[in-house]
Amino acid sequence: MSGFGAITARFYAWFNRNPPSNRIVIDVAELGPDDRVLEVGCGPGAALELAASRIGAERVAAVDPSPTFAAMVAKRVPGADVRVAGAEDVPFDDGAFTVIYTIMSMHHWDDRDDGLATLTAKLAPGGRLLLAERLLEKPGHGITPAQIAAVEARLGELGQTGVHTVRRPDRRKTLAVVVSTRPLAS
Ligand SMILES: C[S@@+](CC[C@H](N)C(=O)[O-])C[C@H]1O[C@@H](n2cnc3c(N)ncnc32)[C@H](O)[C@@H]1O
Repeated sequence: MSGFGAITARFYAWFNRNPPSNRIVIDVAELGPDDRVLEVGCGPGAALELAASRIGAERVAAVDPSPTFAAMVAKRVPGADVRVAGAEDVPFDDGAFTVIYTIMSMHHWDDRDDGLATLTAKLAPGGRLLLAERLLEKPGHGITPAQIAAVEARLGELGQTGVHTVRRPDRRKTLAVVVSTRPLAS
């Protein structure tokens, strides 16, 4: 499912210990002290470490289908609840989180529509979902404008409100973050 075996994961972590994209997403998320946060596809855990530094490790959780990444992050962010799982089978209760985000992971998912349905179900009423990918011209390891439109439409079908995409400079590329909110009454 993950495509990141133990060696690939260690190689990726070596080059991506603190990627700027991870800070961008945590800034866009505007975490507050009462948030309960889930990162999906956490990789080496830079974003989770930042989130924990802002609101406390006991308020953050993460999933990644790679056992190597999950073990790395459990060590990097002591106190966080880190589990081996994918976006399609998140092992937490529905409504458990006020913020769920994913960074450069969605293009790896086996079934994007299923993953989005799972993640929106895990949001508490009023909770925010942030989906970050590098903006591309053609399909690949990122997201094209046509794929953004499809994701935004799917979020609308799932009842999410305030669906919009923010774009931020990320090294010499652009990071697209699709943001949406679960309605207070649903
Ligand atoms: C390019 S890495 C990004 C890692 C990290 N978010 C970052 O920004 O450095 C993609 C991540 O997605 C994870 N992944 C792959 N398939 C997944 C799935 N079905 N659900 C959730 N995460 C998945 C991989 O294991 C990997 O950690």
